[in-house]
Parts: sequence; C-alpha cells; structure tokens
Amino acid sequence: MALLVIAVFALSITVFYLMKNERCQTLKEDLESLKMIALDETCPKCEAGWERHRGSSYFFSNSTSSWTDSRHSCTDLGSDLVKIDSREEQMFLEIRVREIIKNNETFWIGLTDSKTEGSWLWTDGSPLNQSLSFWAPGQPDSLSGAELDCVGMMKTEIPDEVRWYDRHCNDNLRSICEKDSKIQLCFCV
Ligand SMILES: *[C@@H]1O[C@H](CO)[C@@H](O)[C@H](O)[C@H]1NC(C)=O
Ligand SMILES: *[C@@H]1O[C@H](CO)[C@@H](O)[C@H](O)[C@H]1NC(C)=O
Ligand SMILES: *[C@@H]1O[C@H](CO)[C@@H](O)[C@H](O)[C@H]1NC(C)=O
Repeated sequence: MALLVIAVFALSITVFYLMKNERCQTLKEDLESLKMIALDETCPKCEAGWERHRGSSYFFSNSTSSWTDSRHSCTDLGSDLVKIDSREEQMFLEIRVREIIKNNETFWIGLTDSKTEGSWLWTDGSPLNQSLSFWAPGQPDSLSGAELDCVGMMKTEIPDEVRWYDRHCNDNLRSICEKDSKIQLCFCV
C-alpha cells in the first residue's frame, strides 16, 4: 500500500515533469510507468548525471575504460553504449562532447567491427547506415593487422568538429551510454 502511494506520488511528479518539458505521453504509457515504479523491484535508484534529449537519456562518463568494460558499465546502468540514429542525434552529442571535453579526449560509442572486419555493427546488432555515418576525414583507417575495431568520438583538427575514429578496443577512453527515457521514469522521482 505504501508502495502504491509512493508510486502515485511519483507518477504525478513524472506527469508534471513531462508537461514542463512539453512532452506528451499517453495515459497508457503513464500507467505502464506506474506499473514499472510499483512492481519492478529492479527499477534503479535515482542517479545523477543523466541527460534527457528527445526520447533518450545520455550518460557521459568521466572515467575511462576499454570498449567492452565501458559497455558493461552502461549495461549495469540499464543502458548501452550510444547508438547514433540520426544527424540530429550526432549534432546533439557533438555539442555536448565539445562542452564537457577537457583535453583531446575520446568517447566510446556503441559501434564495432570486431566480428567481421569492415562490417560495422551497433550494439543492438543493426548495421551502420552509411548515409548516417560521421567518420573523421580518412577514417576508419584500420590497416590490416592494426585491429582498430571499436569506434570513439573525438575532436578533429577542424575547430568545433567532433567525428568518429576507429580505435583499439583496449584503449581506455571515456564513453557515452544511452537508454530509452521511459526507463528513466523510474529514476528521478
Ligand atoms: C563529470 O565531471 C564534471 C565536472 O567535474 C561534473 O560536472 C559531472 O557531473 C561529472 N559527470 C558524472 C557522470 O559524474
Ligand atoms: C539510412 O539513412 C537515410 C538518411 O536518414 C535514410 O533515408 C535511409 O532510409 C536509411 N537506410 C536504412 C536502410 O535504414
Ligand atoms: C587529437 O589527437 C589526435 C591524435 O590522437 C589528432 O589526430 C587530433 O588532431 C587531435 N585533435 C586536436 C583538436 O588536438
């Protein structure tokens, strides 16, 4: 019962938050969130550091690790390394990376060709759409034997430009996690 009261309270805050952001959500979706809050014990606790943008939430890590370890850190937070689905999403990430970058750092994204050289796949198994790829000039530049199988975002030599580079999967880099915002309804209540 107490749980339900908390859930209803949480839902009102959620609805308020969504309205404030001029986002619409159907009643059905609200009920789904309520069910998730009330019933899903695996619902993670409120966490700082997530940023909402168009239906997704993003986490820019401050710590660095290999591509695989970074991916595990994302999945531990109920997310995965970011999948870039649109030019608009690339632009958003580019702006944020420019704002938070300290030196000439790189951020892992969820793209790799470690299964088959030259066949770039997102972590959900979908292939890279070539017309939505944002490689830096001359990238990817994995030479045979170099095994640069994982992709990170970094500033190019052009000021303010952030593009993709293929890197050694064992390089210790920062990373960007992404998850569906709906799941985040569990979080900040
Ligand atoms: C990373 O560090 C910056 C600057 O210290 C801080 O504002 C930000 O909240 C940190 N991000 C995370 C995810 O801890
Ligand atoms: C690839 O991206 C373009 C541009 O957004 C889009 O028009 C096209 O349908 C996409 N192709 C596939 C196979 O998803
Ligand atoms: C960052 O470093 C890479 C090499 O690791 C270099 O190619 C690139 O030009 C550098 N970018 C900036 C903005 O210094």
